[in-house]
Amino acid sequence: MKARPPRNLFVTGATGGIGRELVRMFLEETPDRLFLLVRAKNSDSEEVRIEKLLKKIGTNGASKDRIRVVSGDLTQPRLGLSPGDWETVTRQTDEFYHIAALTNLGAEWDLSEKINLHGTNCVLETAKEALRSGRLKRFFYFSTAYVAGSFTRICSLEDELPENPSFANNYEATKYLAEKRVREEMAQGLPAVIFRPSIVVGDSKRGAVSEFKVIYPFWRLFAHGLLKKLPSRLENSFNIVPIDFVVEAAFHLSRRDDSVGKTFHLVTENPPTLGLLLRVKEEFGISSPVEVIPPEEFSVETLDPFEREIFSKIDPYLGYLTSSLSFDTQNARKFLRGTGTDFPKTDRNFLKKVLGYALEKGYFLKLTA
Ligand SMILES: NC(=O)c1ccc[n+]([C@@H]2O[C@H](COP(=O)([O-])OP(=O)(O)OC[C@H]3O[C@@H](n4cnc5c(N)ncnc54)[C@H](OP(=O)(O)O)[C@@H]3O)[C@@H](O)[C@H]2O)c1
Repeated sequence: MKARPPRNLFVTGATGGIGRELVRMFLEETPDRLFLLVRAKNSDSEEVRIEKLLKKIGTNGASKDRIRVVSGDLTQPRLGLSPGDWETVTRQTDEFYHIAALTNLGAEWDLSEKINLHGTNCVLETAKEALRSGRLKRFFYFSTAYVAGSFTRICSLEDELPENPSFANNYEATKYLAEKRVREEMAQGLPAVIFRPSIVVGDSKRGAVSEFKVIYPFWRLFAHGLLKKLPSRLENSFNIVPIDFVVEAAFHLSRRDDSVGKTFHLVTENPPTLGLLLRVKEEFGISSPVEVIPPEEFSVETLDPFEREIFSKIDPYLGYLTSSLSFDTQNARKFLRGTGTDFPKTDRNFLKKVLGYALEKGYFLKLTA
């Protein structure tokens, strides 16, 4: 793999959970050079953030020479890049990887729209400039399987966006609009590939994850026994995938020229049920009893004021508790054949690793993020 000439990859979201793992993979498996769009945060400059990141992912000095930090922000015109960085990114990039997003399911509409939709528009404008300059070959976009809307009752197809999805939160809605924009540009000639992971959790080996986000805060409400009643069914399944599967699959798919124009569901084909999750939690002794009530019989009115307050926090997750959504995987199945990366097993053992890791790290003990 290292024998081919290096390419230049522009990556957004390198400091996030998926982005950092993909960056690690590029550094380890390819000779490619990376332009990483990073913003300053918590008094750390962009460079310091990447320095810390590289330490965390354990790369050596030689890898560092292949990284150029470009300071910017998704939501700014021209991504907030300096004129020099804009010139570099649009004239020298072979492949774009747009991974950054606001993944907080409970975020307000304005911020979700600003980062997920407007931010994607700004990245698309940059990519189109790179395409016009004659250099850009590929645009890889990280969408979500839940662009189909977690309240929607269909089998979602990979190469289509459903017409009238029923969304559970602003994240799903704004990611839907963003993918729509990417598809519009794809129809106009942008050589794009779309990845749609479901809910990403810890890795398949140890359940390890860099940050406890997305579904974890919801799980923590159970762990504290704060959530005693749930509108769902024990046989209801929820689609979680280990992060290493998502990263490896995206990496393999990005190596194939014929993936252009296609969308890939990076999901589990055998999602675990709520019943299994509750049993595994009990095995760990981290769960007080939860009463699972069929959604049509559940009423918020029966909750006491404190329970109601807690219940309001799970509003953005309700779609995952009552979901009848399933995912077609024809493209992913076909294109992953022979790569050594297969759809993940998300059984009892896997759940034990994922919850065990969070427990070991003390996540379930903390009340704040
Ligand atoms: N995690 C999941 O369960 C999941 C499931 C399906 C799809 N996806 C998709 O996969 C992608 C990556 O998800 P993730 O879990 O890795 O996300 P994450 O851990 O929340 O990281 C988000 C990344 O986006 C960056 N970002 C956010 N706003 C930005 C802005 N205004 N300018 C520049 N960078 C900005 C963040 O930078 P800072 O470090 O500066 O904040 C961070 O690097 C997203 O597109 C997400 O929608 C994720």
